[in-house]
Amino acid sequence: MADPFRVAVLASGGGSNLQALLDACGAGSPARIVLVLSNNPKAGALTRAERAGVPYAVIPDPADGAVLTRRLTDAHADLVVLAGYLKLVPAETVAAFEGRMINVHPGLLPAFGGPGMYGARVHRAVLESGATESGATVHLVSAEYDRGETIAQRRVPVLPGDTPDTLAVRVLAVEHQLLPEVVLAAAVARKVAPLPK
Ligand code: GRF
Repeated sequence: MADPFRVAVLASGGGSNLQALLDACGAGSPARIVLVLSNNPKAGALTRAERAGVPYAVIPDPADGAVLTRRLTDAHADLVVLAGYLKLVPAETVAAFEGRMINVHPGLLPAFGGPGMYGARVHRAVLESGATESGATVHLVSAEYDRGETIAQRRVPVLPGDTPDTLAVRVLAVEHQLLPEVVLAAAVARKVAPLPK
């Protein structure tokens, strides 16, 4: 694919969302994962990058916006994807990638989001609220946690007897569908001329 859409991924954990992106952005795809960064040297996401032959690095100080921004601009990233990244992105880096940085959240924002709301805490809050559905949200990243404009959502039912773990599995499955769909749509949109107003 001539000049593919270059995607950098930030991840802190196991990287199943990264793996969904790696699987969706293979040969022939309009998008290519060009860099994986993690604040966690033991992140499974780094192992997945290595297996896929994608350059990866640990960012020892996630609060250092200058280093993070330089890593991403040196990689000529067209899009930055937070895929299970648990650190706040410094405002300098958010600004450098305004409108070109997205995050996947395991809940239906704006509900059940914000500082500290990640992983099982989200699913527990959903269950405690009595909500009958949950889902995944992909949104633009702004300087505050989970506050950027929503790009796409996919809903799942909350089922009787659900625990945070059983709900997490159901939500993660739609995260793995939604995030690659948004990334590939962004890649294609860049190649297709904007529709006349
Ligand atoms: C996912 O639930 C994601 O929504 C949240 O953290 C989890 C990451 O999982 N931000 P993985 O590392 O992609 O498997």
